[in-house]
Amino acid sequence: MKYEVVHCPSVLIIIATLFFHLLLLQPSLSVGFKIKKPKRILVTGGAGFVGSHLVDRLIQRGDSVIVVDNFFTGRKENVMHHLGNPKFELIRHDIVEPILLEVDQIYHLACPASPVHYKFNPVKTIKTNVVGTLNMLGLAKRVGARFLLTSTSEVYGDPLQHPQAETYWGNVNPIGVRSCYDEGKRTAETLTMDYHRSAGIEVRIARIFNTHGPRMCIDDGRVVSNFVAQALRKEPLTVYGDGKQTRSFQYVSDLVFIFHIIYKMENLMECWKTTLPYTNIFHFVSY
Ligand SMILES: NC(=O)c1ccc[n+]([C@@H]2O[C@H](COP(=O)([O-])OP(=O)(O)OC[C@H]3O[C@@H](n4cnc5c(N)ncnc54)[C@H](O)[C@@H]3O)[C@@H](O)[C@H]2O)c1
Repeated sequence: MKYEVVHCPSVLIIIATLFFHLLLLQPSLSVGFKIKKPKRILVTGGAGFVGSHLVDRLIQRGDSVIVVDNFFTGRKENVMHHLGNPKFELIRHDIVEPILLEVDQIYHLACPASPVHYKFNPVKTIKTNVVGTLNMLGLAKRVGARFLLTSTSEVYGDPLQHPQAETYWGNVNPIGVRSCYDEGKRTAETLTMDYHRSAGIEVRIARIFNTHGPRMCIDDGRVVSNFVAQALRKEPLTVYGDGKQTRSFQYVSDLVFIFHIIYKMENLMECWKTTLPYTNIFHFVSY
């Protein structure tokens, strides 16, 4: 069984390394660039911030995309520009309920991502992560689709190690007010791996760190949106604590670009892992 983890630094370094390895060192891998027939892709949470950018990219690539979203934090306006495109479908549906769709790939993003939103109804949040992920894995098994779970850096809890290496399993709290999200994502990862081991589904788990960009919710209480909102209101920027804490940030198009590459190419993990220095922008696990 393959077990590889990648810590991605800046996208420019990644692109350069990718091309170097693909085209110069390991030409046999260049098969990843062959033009393939368009796919039918399900994006859960595709009307949300990250999901809508992913949808843009998939549609641009020529694939057919089905978005399933209950619009809890997502908005129709985020994907409005695709309405009328025969390659785009938008379904209002809560993933806590099963759904049957014929698809080749599943990108599973549906889950409120900011503390303001996931603490609003914590039981619903954990249900979305557990029951919703079970439903999507069940679908992947039934139709033989490859599955990508968007997990989070929060699976490390309140980490005692910075940056977090994959050998570090976290410093977690199962009973706190944020546990509906953190523990929900940990369970979603467990389910993903169990489906992989027991049903042979090809899976990817992306542990995403702080992402920002257009369509992010201005009032979600996260650090970048807080800074932007305060700057727009010409207020002083609030820095919590002693100001010495560090975070990893990435722009949304960089995240979506990496999703896209990693989803398609299977054999690059090892070369990235052995070449690149560790930086927590996101962690990627491929099985
Ligand atoms: N944005 C980040 O910095 C970040 C960081 C770590 C992890 N993530 C993960 O990435 C994914 C997307 O995050 P985002 O920032 O785009 O959040 P978001 O809140 O903008 O998007 C989540 C989408 O899921 C939908 N949704 C929520 N519950 C649902 C349900 N039960 N059924 C159907 N749809 C549902 C929402 O309506 C929304 O459209 C999430 O899984 C999140 O945990 C994001």
